[in-house]
Amino acid sequence: MAMNEIPRARLGSFPTPCEQASDLGAVLGVDALWVKRDDLTGYSWGGNKVRPIEFILGDALHQGADTVVVCGGPTSNFAALMVAACSQRGLAVHHVSYGQRPSRIPAAFEVSIQSGAVVEFTGSSDRETMDATAEVVASRLRAQGKRPYVLPRGGASAVGALGFANAALELSAQLKQLGIDAITVVVPVGSGGTIAGLITGWTYALDAGSLTDALDVEIVGVSVSRPPDEMRETIESVVRGCGATAAESVLRPLASRCRWRLVDGRSAGFGVADVSDIELVEEISRQTRFLVDTTYNGKAMRWIRESASQLSRPVVYWHTGGTLGVVDRFSGRSADWEALSTEECKQ
Ligand SMILES: Cc1ncc(COP(=O)(O)O)c(C=O)c1O
Repeated sequence: MAMNEIPRARLGSFPTPCEQASDLGAVLGVDALWVKRDDLTGYSWGGNKVRPIEFILGDALHQGADTVVVCGGPTSNFAALMVAACSQRGLAVHHVSYGQRPSRIPAAFEVSIQSGAVVEFTGSSDRETMDATAEVVASRLRAQGKRPYVLPRGGASAVGALGFANAALELSAQLKQLGIDAITVVVPVGSGGTIAGLITGWTYALDAGSLTDALDVEIVGVSVSRPPDEMRETIESVVRGCGATAAESVLRPLASRCRWRLVDGRSAGFGVADVSDIELVEEISRQTRFLVDTTYNGKAMRWIRESASQLSRPVVYWHTGGTLGVVDRFSGRSADWEALSTEECKQ
């Protein structure tokens, strides 16, 4: 099936801008830096997950599902956005989270709850427990006569990766207009669905037009959740699955000029921001136009700053959003008014 025939629920505004960002480049130590603004995907608070959700929701509706089972911890942007999109299209959602009811509700979880998800906790802090619990929930729903559609964590399925396969073509067209033919793309990696889609889009010809694009791409995935060695096989398998889902007839491997690698960006651990992480995002807030979360984009930008000397080509930083994480960071802070120096605060 050709890309434009694959079921898709349109949610976002695409293409997102690809902007030169000398302000951010100065902070990160990169001379030629562009930012792909997927923080502006145009649906709700935006973010990278809008792209896979368009295809996942399209597939769920096409298959006649009436309920979606989504896995994600309390801060999962994917789960929050998926629940919101499903509820708007009339699908019920069961949101399976690891752990137990948190005493403080993160912004992403609030979105999920407000959008009407039935929330189920696995009772264990092990994130892997969500997959098995999702299957139990799906069996229960089937026994009740429902038609559930079960999603892997982060939406990292072959169908979900189509969103970023498409995005690779979108960026190729923008770079062609800018006259750039060799780049390094840096992107944060969590579940691996985003990078898997990009690799698919630049490794295979998903539509006839993309055969003519001669872009030389190196992708650096900054793994923020699991060690790179654990992620590689997962990503490769999603790439294979996504390629096969995209098209039998138009899927022809290109003489590939796409290389990819994973680097370890976990530093203090998944979702844990140390002093350097906080200092970097605060510096970015003061000196650039970007708002950056510490879980995904902050870690990936930290890798760039620490590794800038390795980057010899123009860099496209793929900004994946994470606005709800920024909200959590701001709202978790207690004000130290004495330390503030504005006139207003002195009164
Ligand atoms: C803001 C943000 N950036 C990046 C990622 C990583 O994307 P992926 O899980 O597709 O690797 C996520 C995943 O949840 C995310 O929420």
